[in-house]
Amino acid sequence: MKKTLVLKVNPRKPEKKKIRVAAEIIKNGGLVAFPTETVYGLGADALNPKAVLALFKAKKRPLDNPPIVHISDVKEVYRLVEEVPPKAEKLMENFWPGPLTLIFRRSKIVPDVTVAGLDTIAIRMPKHNVALALIRESGCPISAPSANLAGRPSPTTAQHVLEDLEGRIDAVLDAGPTRIGVESTVLDLAAYPPQILRPGGTPLEKLRKFLGEVEFHPIAIADKEVSVEKVRSPGVRHKHYAPNAEVIVVEGEVSGIVEKVKELVKYYEEKSVKVGVLATDETAGCYRADVVKSLGSRKNLKVVAKNLFKLLREFDKEGVDVIVAEGIPLKGLGVAVMNRLRKASGYKIVKANA
Ligand code: TXA
Ligand code: MG
Repeated sequence: MKKTLVLKVNPRKPEKKKIRVAAEIIKNGGLVAFPTETVYGLGADALNPKAVLALFKAKKRPLDNPPIVHISDVKEVYRLVEEVPPKAEKLMENFWPGPLTLIFRRSKIVPDVTVAGLDTIAIRMPKHNVALALIRESGCPISAPSANLAGRPSPTTAQHVLEDLEGRIDAVLDAGPTRIGVESTVLDLAAYPPQILRPGGTPLEKLRKFLGEVEFHPIAIADKEVSVEKVRSPGVRHKHYAPNAEVIVVEGEVSGIVEKVKELVKYYEEKSVKVGVLATDETAGCYRADVVKSLGSRKNLKVVAKNLFKLLREFDKEGVDVIVAEGIPLKGLGVAVMNRLRKASGYKIVKANA
């Protein structure tokens, strides 16, 4: 166990001194968790194989699932990749800094472990002053998966990071809760039309306006297990986003969902199982379960996305055995939320009749 240093920083104007302390740790091959606009990431020098290996170990992350490399200046991309296609250039101009990760062919300076032996690399520029200041001050690209133990819900506060990683990492920069709450969208431009491998903070609709054609890869929809050969996105076969409780997702029209959730709650309560319901503002009042939590209004998917991981962690604190979660509309950020919920459930998806 090492002592994890907690550095409270101003989210907009991070204190130089604290950023310097964190950057020194990165330069020396250490691990620093930091906020981005999506979730907290766990950072290591992307060009230092030992540091990246330590990162996988701290998270207990399988070595075949490469993290995203974070940069603070578009120029960095040209060092890290073989080629920047024109479409990528345009996307970088318009969406960076922001919650969009692009896949490129990697250059020779990138260590194997950083990309899990693949010939491609995932890169993004986060839209958060603390993240950008840390990358700049460290003077290197930073590999940063979400700062949770592998398989757990991603952290949206420094507290969540400490719950999972205290004593396993050198420091965390605490700048309060993250704004978006789900991870970046991962886009693969090598496919035609371009494919979203992971839905996230940049919705399909926004990319479509810009690129014309874009589609979801089946793994992005995550309504069932996809066979490993069909998977171009590494790591998707590993368990993800899961709280300790078992999760069941109920999907369909709202009225049907409410009836089905009630039925499931009753079923579990009769078996003396402690049940939680993950509801929405419109429906939370309909349920009598041990614990009922609302993600927010169905009309405001930004708030729903922001609350998702926090509430999954809260259910664990309440010690529920089963979480019955309402499905939400599959549009905008809703697709990212449903991807996380379906994966957290291990694809235990129940269809409600309208
Ligand atoms: O918002 C985010 O993206 C956060 C913050 C910290 O920036 N990071 C994050 O990293 O979610 P991570 O490592 O938890 O997720 C990385 C995702 C995984 O879905 C992985 O499969 C995919 O990116 N990925 C990484 N390298 C890839 C590659 N070469 N080709 C395809 N997918 C890749
Ligand atoms: Mg993750």
